[in-house]
Amino acid sequence: MKKQNFDLFAVTALGLESVCLRELTALGIKDVAPCKGGVSFQGGLEELYRANLWLRSATRVLVRLGTFGCKDFPELYRKALRLPWGRFIKPGTGMQVKATSRGSRLMHTGRIAETVLESAYRVVGAADESSDGPAQLILVRFEDNQCQISVDSSGALLHRRGYRQKIGPAPMRETLAAGILMMLDWDVSTPLVDPMCGSGTFIVEGALMGMRRAPGLAREFAFMHWPRYRPGLWQVLQTQARTSEQPVTPPLIGRDRDSVVVEAACCNATSAGVGDVTLFESAELGRGDVPTQSGLVLCNPPYGGRLGRDESMTGLYRQLGEVYRSVYCGWLGAVLCPVGPLSKALGEGFDCLHLLSNGGLEVGLHVARL
Ligand SMILES: C[S@@+](CC[C@H](N)C(=O)[O-])C[C@H]1O[C@@H](n2cnc3c(N)ncnc32)[C@H](O)[C@@H]1O
Repeated sequence: MKKQNFDLFAVTALGLESVCLRELTALGIKDVAPCKGGVSFQGGLEELYRANLWLRSATRVLVRLGTFGCKDFPELYRKALRLPWGRFIKPGTGMQVKATSRGSRLMHTGRIAETVLESAYRVVGAADESSDGPAQLILVRFEDNQCQISVDSSGALLHRRGYRQKIGPAPMRETLAAGILMMLDWDVSTPLVDPMCGSGTFIVEGALMGMRRAPGLAREFAFMHWPRYRPGLWQVLQTQARTSEQPVTPPLIGRDRDSVVVEAACCNATSAGVGDVTLFESAELGRGDVPTQSGLVLCNPPYGGRLGRDESMTGLYRQLGEVYRSVYCGWLGAVLCPVGPLSKALGEGFDCLHLLSNGGLEVGLHVARL
């Protein structure tokens, strides 16, 4: 049987495109091309499943259903009718359409969504009201009168690995934490310390990377509800992933002054299955043992109010820079924070290597060889 190929797209937060491309290439996936906000690639069901199972930095994986020029609603309805909805949506499945529009005659995103939904239901049949299954997400994007329609294969966003039971006041997304560790080329056989760990995201993601645990191993995906779902193929990929796991060796340590978030971090690590290879301690910045002469020390300190331009926090950032230079001499140091007075307060040696987005705020990844 001829293998069917799809146009696929791994959506990422801005700034994570290049690490996602590296991840796809490492999975042996071909025809990868970075774009703003993600990476496009080609593949069949196997590549689609593998991307969902393994990508640590992507937010979701889409299948492009079709792209066409369109300038009015009747045309949108007609052209959407011709798309292969039945390949991805079982009769009776509920659908949710999210639309965006830029530089196009069709601007009313609510009406765009309704029109596409009407076409899709016309093709696959109306939603079964008594079904309590998840709604299939459809994304519609208009740009310069070109309409692109995609089906989401992931379901819940991929940062929802399923392990985070408890969160601190400003948790970071797992996809961002893993993306940063990959951007810094952290060697999984070397120590990792987060001195302001909050709910422990960097340390738990580091442990999962260290043991080569596939981030999507234990969760459900939207593609499992598609008509051509192949559970046998999914099981094979899961088994391969389980057998490729390896023990974690280096110290992975999270510290925070707040004992409540330290407890949350411990719970998260336990539920992720990495409780026995991570250590979380309640400690003020600068306190606690430093395990070896080199490693990665990384944190995401509080930014304060007013979108990270709160100068009352500069004392903390000055102290952080000093602690990094004196306590972690010989290590690679990194701090994720807004570019400006706070990053300047870190002092000499720090360069902003990448711009990223954390919780909707633009932040820089500041790195120093200590
Ligand atoms: C933005 S949160 C970190 C969030 C974390 N990356 C996560 O994913 O949950 C900043 C953390 O720094 C901690 N913190 C602030 N000042 C500190 C200090 N002087 N010593 C240790 N921890 C501190 C706070 O308690 C808070 O949990």
